[in-house]
Amino acid sequence: METGTPIAIKKAIQERCWIDSAAYQTLYRQSITDSVGFWRSQAERIDWFREPTQIRDVSFHPDDVHIHWFQDGELNATYNCIDRHLEKNGDGIALLWEPDQPHQQRREIRYRELHEQVCRLANTLTRLGVNKGDRVMLYMPMIPEAVFAMLACARIGAIHSVVFAGFSPDALAGRIADCQARLVITADAGRRAGKQVPLKANVDAALEKPGTDCVDTVLVVEHLGVAPDWHNGRDRRYSEEMAASSTHCPAVAMNAEDPLFILYTSGSTGKPKGVLHTTGGYLVYAALTHQVAFDYHPGQVYWCTADVGWITGHTYLVYGPLANGATCVMFEGVPNYPNDQRVGDIIDRYQVNILYTAPTAIRALMAGGDHCCQGSHRDSLRLLATAGEPINPAAWQWFHDVVGKGQAAVVDTWWQTETGGIMICPLPGAIEAKPGAATRPFFGVQPALLDNEGHILTGAAEGNLVIGDSWPGQARTLWGDHERFVQTYFSTFPGYYCTGDGARRDADGDYWITGRVDDVINVSGHRMGTAEVESALVAHPKVCEAAVVGYPHQLKGQGIYVYVTLNAGTDSNEALCEELRLWVRQEIGPIATPDLIHFTVDLPKTRSGKIMRRILRKVAANEHDSLGDISTLADPAVVASLVETRMNR
Ligand code: WT7
Repeated sequence: METGTPIAIKKAIQERCWIDSAAYQTLYRQSITDSVGFWRSQAERIDWFREPTQIRDVSFHPDDVHIHWFQDGELNATYNCIDRHLEKNGDGIALLWEPDQPHQQRREIRYRELHEQVCRLANTLTRLGVNKGDRVMLYMPMIPEAVFAMLACARIGAIHSVVFAGFSPDALAGRIADCQARLVITADAGRRAGKQVPLKANVDAALEKPGTDCVDTVLVVEHLGVAPDWHNGRDRRYSEEMAASSTHCPAVAMNAEDPLFILYTSGSTGKPKGVLHTTGGYLVYAALTHQVAFDYHPGQVYWCTADVGWITGHTYLVYGPLANGATCVMFEGVPNYPNDQRVGDIIDRYQVNILYTAPTAIRALMAGGDHCCQGSHRDSLRLLATAGEPINPAAWQWFHDVVGKGQAAVVDTWWQTETGGIMICPLPGAIEAKPGAATRPFFGVQPALLDNEGHILTGAAEGNLVIGDSWPGQARTLWGDHERFVQTYFSTFPGYYCTGDGARRDADGDYWITGRVDDVINVSGHRMGTAEVESALVAHPKVCEAAVVGYPHQLKGQGIYVYVTLNAGTDSNEALCEELRLWVRQEIGPIATPDLIHFTVDLPKTRSGKIMRRILRKVAANEHDSLGDISTLADPAVVASLVETRMNR
C-alpha cells in the first residue's frame, strides 16, 4: 500500500515498516470520514472476477441489522490465496510443516503443490456430492491437509466449519447438527505432545448422536497410519479419493457476500453460536490486517501458532498470509514439547521473522525461566505478536527482552471470532506499544466506551467496549439464527456492535482491554461460556446445581472455578471431584476441565432465586474482603460459609 516514507521500526535490525505515524493518522482519518473511498481502494488488493461497485450497505439498527460489503463483487478466496501467486511465485513455499515429533519427516508445500492438492481435493468433494453452499465439517489435526480442506471447500463454494480437534464427540455432534453438514473431513488420528488423539473414533461417536444423520460421507486422512473402525459406504480414504481426482479445477466465482465459513464460538448463554463470515469483505480485511499489523513483507517467514480450529488459525494462518503470498510455518505440536527449547529451535530452523502466539504460551515458557531460549539465536525475529487474552506486562516484557532479545517489536492484537480480523493494536512503526495495552484502532474501526446505561464516555474512562460502525471483516450473522445475532450484539447498546469486553482508555487515548463483561471466560486464550460448563455439570446424575466462574490463574490467564451442590444422599469427596472433571472433559473437551471444584450446600441467591455471580467471582478470586453489598441475598450466611471453604488460597 501507499504509505509514504518507511521508517525504522527497531534501529537494531534496520527494518522498514509499511506505516509510520503520519501515515496512520492520515489513513485512519480517511477510513472514517471516507469509508467508501478507503475500502474501495483497499479492495484492489484482491483479484476480483468482477470488481465491486457497491462498497457498503450496512445498518446496526436493531430493527434491521444488515452488513453487506462489496455486494456486487465476485471473487474466489482460493484464487486469491493460490492461483494468483503461481506465475511469479509458484516455487515459493506456502507452508513449512513442523511435525509434533522433532525427528519426524518435515514437509514443504510450495504454492504450485498447494494448488494441485486443493484442486484435487475440491474435485474429490464435488465427486462425493458436495455442492456450492453445502456445509463441510473439518475435525483435523494441524497438518497441511487441514489447510487443503479449508481451501478446497472455498474453491467450490462449500462452507467449511472447522471444529477444534480437542473438542469431544458431543461438542462435534452439536455443531454438525446445527449446520446440517453433509460431509466430515478428519484424520485417522492426531498427535500432540506425543499423545495420540483418536479423531476418527470421535467422529464415529459423534455420528451416533441425534441430529447428525445429515452426514453421508466421512473422508479420512491417513495421518498416523492407525486403522480405525470402518463404515463401508460412508467412510472414504483420502489417499484413494485424491488419486482418483484431477488436478484441474477452476475456482468458482462467488459473490462477495456468499458464505466462506462458519466457526462456532461460545456465548454467555445457551449452545455455541455459528459465527458466519462471508467471502469478499473478510478476505480484504484478512489480507490488509495481516500485511500491516505484522508489517509483513514479501519473502519473510511468518509463524502463527494458532490451531486451525480457532479464528486466529483461519485469518492469520490461512486466509490472510496466503492471500499475501507468505511463507507460513505450521506446527503440529505444542511449544514446550519435547522440551522448552522447541520454540527457539523452530524459529532458528526456519529463520522465522514474525511470530504470532498467545500470552498463555508465553507465560508457560516464561515459567521455566530463560532456559527456553538457550541453544537458539532467534536473530531472524523482527516482530512478535500476541492475541486471544490480555497479556500481563511482565509476560510482555519477557517476550520482548528475552525471546526477541529487545530487537523485535511486540504487537498485542485485540479482536474476536466475530470481528474476523484485528481491531485494535499498535501498528508497528506507527504506534508506540505499551506493555499490556492494545492501544489504537485499526483502519475503519471506531471504538467507543459506554457506561451500563449506554451513555458515551469521553476522555480517559473505563466502560463497555463497543464499535460504532461496520468494517469489512465483521461477521454477518449467526448460522440459522439472525435474531440471536441481533440480540447478542446489537440490542444492548442500539446503534453499536457490542463486543462483550470491557476496556479502559488512558489519557493518551490508548485502549486497554480489561476482559469480558459477560459470562464468558477465557482459559488459556480459549473462549468458554460458563453456561456451557454448567449445563455439562448438571447433566451429571449426582449434581443438583452448578455455577461456574473464572478466577485469575498464573499460567492460563483464567482458570475454571466450579461451585457444585449435590443431590440428597451424595457425599462430596476426592473421587467425585475426579469423576466430575472427567465428565466435563467428555461432555465438552479437555479445554473445559474444571481447575477447582468447590462443593457447597448452598449458593448465594437473591430473593427471586437468581445466583449472585458477582459474589462467586470474588470468592473464587480470593477477594472476599471486597464482596460489596450482600444485603439483597435471601440468606447472607451462605457467603461466610463459602469464604470459609474457598478453594483458591
Ligand atoms: C475474546 C475473543 C484474538 C482472536 C482470537 C480469540 C479476548 C482477544 C485479546 C487481547 C485482551 C483479548 C477478548 C475477546 N481477547 N484478544 N489482545 N487482549 N483480550 O477470539 O475466541 O473469539 O475470543 O478474547 O475477551 O472478546 P475469541
